[in-house]
Amino acid sequence: MDQLRIVGGTPLSGTIRISGAKNAALPLMVASLLTDSPLVLENIPDLADIRTLSKLLASLGATISPEDMGEGAGRALSFHVPTITSTLAHYDLVRTMRASVLVLGPLLARCGTATVSLPGGCAIGTRPVDMHLKALEDMGATITIKDGYIKAEAPSGLSGARIIFPKVSVGATQNILMAATLAHGETLMENAAREPEIEDLASCLVSMGADISGIGTDTLRIQGKTALSGARHRVMPDRIEAGTYAMAAMATGGRITLEGARADHLQCALGKLVEAGADIEITADSITVGRTSGPLLGVDIMTEPYPGFPTDLQAQFMALMTLAEGASMITETIFENRFMHVPELMRMGADITIHQSSVLVRGVPKLSGAPVMATDLRASFSLVLAALAAEGETTIRRIYHLDRGYENVVEKLRGCGANIHRESDNQDTPDL
Ligand code: EPZ
Repeated sequence: MDQLRIVGGTPLSGTIRISGAKNAALPLMVASLLTDSPLVLENIPDLADIRTLSKLLASLGATISPEDMGEGAGRALSFHVPTITSTLAHYDLVRTMRASVLVLGPLLARCGTATVSLPGGCAIGTRPVDMHLKALEDMGATITIKDGYIKAEAPSGLSGARIIFPKVSVGATQNILMAATLAHGETLMENAAREPEIEDLASCLVSMGADISGIGTDTLRIQGKTALSGARHRVMPDRIEAGTYAMAAMATGGRITLEGARADHLQCALGKLVEAGADIEITADSITVGRTSGPLLGVDIMTEPYPGFPTDLQAQFMALMTLAEGASMITETIFENRFMHVPELMRMGADITIHQSSVLVRGVPKLSGAPVMATDLRASFSLVLAALAAEGETTIRRIYHLDRGYENVVEKLRGCGANIHRESDNQDTPDL
């Protein structure tokens, strides 16, 4: 298994090119199941999760091939599914990448049948898919759970329905949105998620010929079509990666230009960083983040569905707050177990107290490097942030978590002056 070795204390300064968004690319790749024509996706990040989903799509009948994009324009892949050759999404693939459950709606819509492994929980929570299943039943599917698999049938196709989600779910919104594009009649989705990744998926589906209105709102209205065409779509920039590196600039007292980042996708998080003492410059396709001359201030946050503070930036923000003057109350409202970075940050000298779904972070003058272990994707980067700001050397083990969602971390950070190396820790990679 690999580990990162970081010697902290260097203010990070320079430019980082923000990659295509993992959480937009994954559903966009699944959308290729909805058509027998090629879907070309540009700006696809090179990540473990993308490779895992590509394997799953190939097992269902997709031919995936590189497309020429020209110098510096990012990676482009063509996803072509002329026929669905299998409707089984196997446990071994789904368990390593939960977003695989998104193939359920499209397979059902295109073939009238699907057998998809229940994704199971993950480190941050049980993460059920009950809302995905209930909505598909509302659209006429018969769903049974057997031997850990979801067996869904809709032999005469799905029918449009009025779907009211009891809570906001990004995945359930994406699954039903894709299914509805090929359903008979109109589907109305209320209390739908509004994350930019949903908007990116919806605009791609429209370019494939789908009839969707209300894009960007919590109410989506879809008129089903008999077929969709191919398209070419550019994956949006990764707002979570951008927010993560913005916090790295602040934690180290440096200044980083996030090239390709969209400030309109990060309004809430950027507002909280300004409250904490960030100096931010915004252009049409970049965000530059540094520190004002004042201190780093403790700021309270509560994670919420978009446009609120993103849960995927909570761990990183906590790492930043460990060095603030004063205290910060951080409340996690989306997932039930997303504080696993806390004990690791405390090993580095952070002063954090957990109270159920909130933590109180009392700022300390400095963190000290230590051996720590990554537990999940975003928690792993909170440890990287802490290590970059700490005095001394930190080793971070199990960084396969990091590889799932951050492209070229070592190169991007080294390009801003970080003292960071990747090496083997001479342990075997655990079964994911
Ligand atoms: C997506 O997960 C993201 N993953 C997550 O990012 C992100 O944290 C999450 O949305 C929230 O923004 C991808 O896009 C691949 P949800 P998803 O359905 O769709 C509960 C990362 O680090 N729920 O919006 O699985 C669920 O348990 C990852 O990149 C149900 O109860 O999240 C959670 O508490 C982590 N029943 C809440 O809703 C359901 O049927 C929000 O989950 C579905 C969800």
